[in-house]
Amino acid sequence: MAKIGIFDSGVGGLSVFREIRKVLPEEEYIYYSDSANCPYGEKPVEFIIDRCRKITEFLLENGAEIIVVACNTATAAAIKTLREEYPIRFIGMEPAIKPAAQMTRTGVVGVLATAGTLKSDKYLRHKEKYASDIRIAEHVGEGFVELVENGKTSGPEAESTVQRSLEPLLAAGADTIVLGCTHYPFLIDTIRKAAQGRDITIIDPAPAIAKHLVEVMDEEGIAYGPDSGKSFHISLHSSGNQELLESIFGKL
Ligand code: DGL
Repeated sequence: MAKIGIFDSGVGGLSVFREIRKVLPEEEYIYYSDSANCPYGEKPVEFIIDRCRKITEFLLENGAEIIVVACNTATAAAIKTLREEYPIRFIGMEPAIKPAAQMTRTGVVGVLATAGTLKSDKYLRHKEKYASDIRIAEHVGEGFVELVENGKTSGPEAESTVQRSLEPLLAAGADTIVLGCTHYPFLIDTIRKAAQGRDITIIDPAPAIAKHLVEVMDEEGIAYGPDSGKSFHISLHSSGNQELLESIFGKL
């Protein structure tokens, strides 16, 4: 059984944990939600790096053997620094532009992400590498993180908020939508509803991240799987609203 640390600016990383647990059901998890500082989307890069260092230290003190940065914004801002400063493997989020570019039939891929992710060098390089033959339409999921942090993933408010950011992507002809923020998968049903019967494919990168985590654990020789007498366990930590974290976890 391995001890896996996972963190996000808030509860969004639970959408990644949900996929990780499918492939690694027996492990011990420590999840840290930085809800007191959420959203990260518009915060300065230095602030995000500093929070990521503190959270990494907390996870290491609690015995994490590998850390999943289950936040696209934190990955874009801080993963390079974390990899330089700590002697542990970090798994980061990648917006799923590569599979989306292969799947689109209209030649237009829509990306929903935070402002921090969309303007990051990491994202721009990724786009240059995988999207040279297609068009990318981008939009910040304005208000999406706040909806999820408040547990409002459906209903009229969620629908109108989602509609506002999705509409420009649909108007640009996008038939494939990449969810570039780990909070957004919790809104997937509302996103589908807002697409109003249009035939769109929505890509959540979390299953690919879970698969990559297993590959890296194999590479590092981190043992996983059932141990005698021990089975799945998760400890949930929040710098803000602990009850919300537990309630969203409870709904998974
Ligand atoms: N869940 C995060 C992401 O994947 C960040 C949302 C935010 O804090 O703005 O980008």
